[in-house]
Amino acid sequence: VAPQVIFSAIQPTGAPHLGNYLGALRQWVKLQNEALPETTLLYSVADLHAITLRQDPSILREWRKQMLASLIAVGLDPKRSIIFHQSAIPAHSELHWILSCNASMGYLSRMTQWKSKMALPENANPLDTSSKAKLKLGLFSYPVLQAADILIHRATHVPVGADQTQHLEYAREVASGFNHLHTPILTLPSTILSPAKRIMSLTQPLKKMSKSDPDPKSRILITDTHATIKRKIKSALTDSIEGITYDPVTRPGVSNLIEMMYCMDESVAESPVLLANELKDLSMRALKEKVADTIELHIRDVRERYESIVFGDAKVLMDINEEGVRKAKQSADATLKLVREAIGL
Ligand code: ADP
Ligand code: NA
Repeated sequence: VAPQVIFSAIQPTGAPHLGNYLGALRQWVKLQNEALPETTLLYSVADLHAITLRQDPSILREWRKQMLASLIAVGLDPKRSIIFHQSAIPAHSELHWILSCNASMGYLSRMTQWKSKMALPENANPLDTSSKAKLKLGLFSYPVLQAADILIHRATHVPVGADQTQHLEYAREVASGFNHLHTPILTLPSTILSPAKRIMSLTQPLKKMSKSDPDPKSRILITDTHATIKRKIKSALTDSIEGITYDPVTRPGVSNLIEMMYCMDESVAESPVLLANELKDLSMRALKEKVADTIELHIRDVRERYESIVFGDAKVLMDINEEGVRKAKQSADATLKLVREAIGL
């Protein structure tokens, strides 16, 4: 059996929130720590994806750095995992172009990414220029770039959240299309679905916790201090029903708090339902204190590592970046060479 190649990516969004951490990053670290010695792991900061929406250059520069620091802080080891900025490896963009030359507009127009990023309905038409924000080519092409990210490293496995399975399907489609048309060079990647439930917004618990929510009280960042965590949890929207129960449909706010506590430390109970049962006699206020303390207990190390990286010697992060770029370039260039030969370039 050929060795595994694990690839995943996250956009530079500054410090990640608990949804990113529990839904994605913690899984990446687990895969790293459990990987066989011959497994290659690549984790990328997807800065080329970030610019499919308008970004302030000075903020983007800061966010790229913060996400890199966050990846180290959550426990990725730059000696073991290849950690790099996507834009530092031109082969990602070159493969994107090559793949786009055979990418069906019809297929892409049915994908949901551009619709959700532009807040358009499911049946939106890409050429409908009357919509308030006009669709840009880069955003439309987002799944092709994502396919290129994965295929350029011939990844065998891609850990993603449920919202990304459609894009993985597309990457396989693109790979088999290329292999059929030219030479069978590209690897069809398998999906590793994140086991974590979606973490919901603290202020609107029917929506997922997201960095794009304008209210900073809606999410906890991995860099938040204990005091900030307590303040945000204290102001979380719950209900006035007596006692603590786990019921995401009728009690989304309380259930989200239970879910967060359970995800932060699965040793506290066997399931969120059983955890709620253990806490059933607590007041809402006491529950919130417990949740905040559990988050603090398990995020403190991450926050402290983050601070020592960001406020420490800038050269450390630069060296990590350089090493990641060097290794990622080797991996990507080897594939690109074969791809170019296959198509006659
Ligand atoms: P955001 O929604 O904040 O923009 P991204 O779309 O950049 O986050 O997601 C980065 C990763 O974090 C993805 O793998 C995604 O599945 C995961 N993720 C994002 N938000 C949540 C959430 N609320 N709960 C669980 N996982 C999440
Ligand atoms: Na998102």
